Amino acid sequence: MRILITAGPTREPIDPVRFISNRSSGRMGYALAQAAREAGCAITLVSGPTGLVPPVGANFVPVDTAKQMFDAVAGIIKAHDVAIFSAAVADYRPVEIAPEKIKKTEPRMVLELERTSDILGSARVQFGFEGFLVGFAAETENVLQEAHAKLRRKACDLVVANDVSKPGTGFDSDENEVTLCLPGSKSLPLPRSTKIELAREIICFIQGRVAAQTPP
Ligand code: CTP
Repeated sequence: MRILITAGPTREPIDPVRFISNRSSGRMGYALAQAAREAGCAITLVSGPTGLVPPVGANFVPVDTAKQMFDAVAGIIKAHDVAIFSAAVADYRPVEIAPEKIKKTEPRMVLELERTSDILGSARVQFGFEGFLVGFAAETENVLQEAHAKLRRKACDLVVANDVSKPGTGFDSDENEVTLCLPGSKSLPLPRSTKIELAREIICFIQGRVAAQTPP
């Protein structure tokens, strides 16, 4: 099985020395890549900047910005059976990137932002991906309701939902507590565990679903 995984944050430059980003460590995405390698899958890992080492044998595609991640995924997604979007892609980027370092001359400054393209939301119609599509939903309220809405809106086969308001899970932590959201409003909560253990369970679950969908 060939699996594409997006991971980590993106960085949207403001000027040559500053950027907008988020608290994603990339650990969940790298754990998924590791678990998928252990399960014998071929991996492409498209990753924003993290301090992590990609698993041995993975095809590693480093990127910085949401646009670079979009272009990388667009070019290769159809060569994969499964695509897992665990990256915390910036939703907005500065409209203009200052060519020189911005000096602090004013007491206030306004930064104008514009939306980035939704990579997961482009997978089906724009990229023509027909494989097993997995999204992530990091929410702070109405977690399952939001995750199921995301699953329908982005035509996913699975959305991994996590409540990032709970202390000690989600962004920047070793452990996570997730619920697998499936079409037909079905939800399967997984017990709180380390990210690598959860990654192994998620990869095993995906392999089972893909096998069930594949004609003998
Ligand atoms: N995603 C993506 N490209 C983006 C934004 C998000 O591929 N530009 C993917 C993420 O990798 C994740 C899922 O979409 O799998 C998250 O969905 P999204 O609707 O962006 O979640 P939120 O950022 O929480 O957005 P919302 O404001 O709609 O809740």
